[in-house]
Amino acid sequence: MSWPVIPAPPGTPPCGEPVPDPDDGWVVTRHADVVAVLTDPRCVVPVAPGGPPGTLAWLRGTVSRFSAPDRHPDRRAIGVAALAALDPDDLRAAAARLTEDTLEAAVRLTGATPDAVATRPPDRPAGETLDALATRPGTGAAGEQAVPRPAAAERRGPGRVDVMARLARRVPLEVLAARLGLADPAAAGAAVPAVAAAYHPGADPAVVARADRAVAALLALSPPAPPEVAANRIGLLVQACDATAGLIGAAVRHGRTAPAAVSTVDLLAEVLRLDPPVRATRRLTTAPLRLGAREIGPDVPLLLRFDAANRDPAVHADPDRFRAGRPGGTLTFGAGPRGCPGERHALALAAGVVDVLRRRCGAADAPAGYQPHPTLRIPTSLEVTVR
Ligand code: HEM
Repeated sequence: MSWPVIPAPPGTPPCGEPVPDPDDGWVVTRHADVVAVLTDPRCVVPVAPGGPPGTLAWLRGTVSRFSAPDRHPDRRAIGVAALAALDPDDLRAAAARLTEDTLEAAVRLTGATPDAVATRPPDRPAGETLDALATRPGTGAAGEQAVPRPAAAERRGPGRVDVMARLARRVPLEVLAARLGLADPAAAGAAVPAVAAAYHPGADPAVVARADRAVAALLALSPPAPPEVAANRIGLLVQACDATAGLIGAAVRHGRTAPAAVSTVDLLAEVLRLDPPVRATRRLTTAPLRLGAREIGPDVPLLLRFDAANRDPAVHADPDRFRAGRPGGTLTFGAGPRGCPGERHALALAAGVVDVLRRRCGAADAPAGYQPHPTLRIPTSLEVTVR
C-alpha cells in the first residue's frame, strides 16, 4: 500500500528543545518532554476560581478539568464513573444511526436521488436546498434520538451536507446527552457549544453571557444530582464538543488522501496524530525543573504542543507519513493523571459518524476554513455530497 504524506498544519512548530514562548514561558515540542511535563506533579493545570452557582464560572470552578490537585481526583472520578456506564460499541452504533437518519433526511428534503447526486457536478448551485434541515430542540424522552430537523439559511445543492454543522458538532453530543440521561438530548446537545465557546479563559463578555444561559439550560435538563456531580457530567459534554467535532472533520478531510482500504479506526488514529483537533495544552510550573538542556523556574507557563510532539522523529519514523497501525500512537488525548478519560468514547462516536460518511458520501470539499482558536483546530464547515 502506498502511504501519503500529510504535511504539518500551518503554525505547527518544529520538534526540538523547549523554546521561549513569545507570550510568556516555554513551548514544549518533543514527545518525551511533553510526557515528562504531563506526568510531573510540579506542573499543574491553571485553576479556575469559580463563581455564582449555575453560571459558567461555577461550572469551570467545579469540573475536574480546572481543579487544583487536591480536588482533582474526586471530581475526575465522577466523570470516569459516568463514562464507565457507557458502552463504546453502543455509542458507535447510535452515532451511526443518527448519521444515517441525517443523511436520509438531507436526500429526502432536497429531492436528490443517488443517481441525481452522482451525476451532478459537486459545485452546481441548486434550486432545492437543505434550508429546511435544521437542528431544533427535539422532544424525545431520555434515551431517544431526535430525528434531524430542518434548518434555515443554507444554500446548497441536492444531497449536499455540511458535515460540521449537521453531524460533527451535533451527533456525538446528542448521543452522549441521551446516554447521560439529559431530558431532551437534542436541546442539550444544541446548548453545549455555547458553553464550550467560553470554557477556556479569555472569552468576551457576550460569549460568557450566552454560556451562562446555556449552563442554566443544561442544569435544567440534567437528572437530579448533587451540584458537583451535575457539573462534572455536563463537563463531559463540554469536553467532548469541539475535540470530537474536529476529529470527525479531520477524518473526513484526510479520508480523501488515505488509502480506501484503511479501517476507520486506523484512519482516526493517524488523523489524531497528524492533524490533531487539540493542538496543545497548558501547565504552570510550581518548582524548578529541567527539560532537555533547559532549566525552568517556578511559576512559569508551559505550552505543550501535541501537534509537534506527534511528529517527533524520535518516536515515529518518517513522521509526516500517514501509515496505519503505527506503534507509538498519539499524544492528542494527553497523558498522566489528567489525560482524557473519554478517549474510547470519543473514538467510538467519531467512528460511528465517519463509518457512515465513508460509505455514503463522495470525497469531501476542502474545509471552508478553521475556527480561530489558540489550541483547537476545528473546520468551520466541510461539505460532502450524499450518494
Ligand atoms: C477527539 C476527541 C477528544 C480529544 C482529542 C480529547 C483530548 C483531551 C485532552 C488532551 C485532555 C487533557 C487536557 C490536559 O491534560 O490539559 C482531555 C481531558 C478531558 N477530556 Fe477529552 N478529548 C476528546 C474527547 C472527549 C470526550 C468524548 C469526553 C467525554 C465523553 C472527554 C472528556 C474529557 C474530560 C472529562 C477531561 C478532563 C479530565 C480531567 O479533569 O482529569 N474528552 N481531553
